[in-house]
Amino acid sequence: IDGKILYQPCAGCHGETGETMALGSSAKLKGQTADQILKKLNGYADGTYGGSKKNIMTSIIKRMSEEARVKVSEYISTF
Ligand code: HEM
Repeated sequence: IDGKILYQPCAGCHGETGETMALGSSAKLKGQTADQILKKLNGYADGTYGGSKKNIMTSIIKRMSEEARVKVSEYISTF
């Protein structure tokens, strides 16, 4: 699985290089480590992480396999 391809549906909200605050509210993905991103993604999936707009991320992330979450997190950490 290619992290860059997995990230394309995310780019519309988070920006091509993670520089955008998604829907005007999220933290920027740029500058975060792969481990930080993966923990947040898994937190959305199991309900232990998120702010007022977490439902958007929960529905997206529940459809991603653990392997895909790892790959997209590694890609995001290159921004
Ligand atoms: C939050 C990743 C797709 C909107 C986040 C966070 C991560 C992330 C890691 C947490 C940021 C932080 O707190 O540091 C991704 C990935 C995506 C994706 C990997 C694609 C698989 C999208 C899309 C949208 C979106 C398509 C818009 C429709 C948001 C919003 C938040 C957020 C609004 C803040 C939610 C909250 O209140 O907790 N995303 N995202 N994301 N993302 Fe995404």
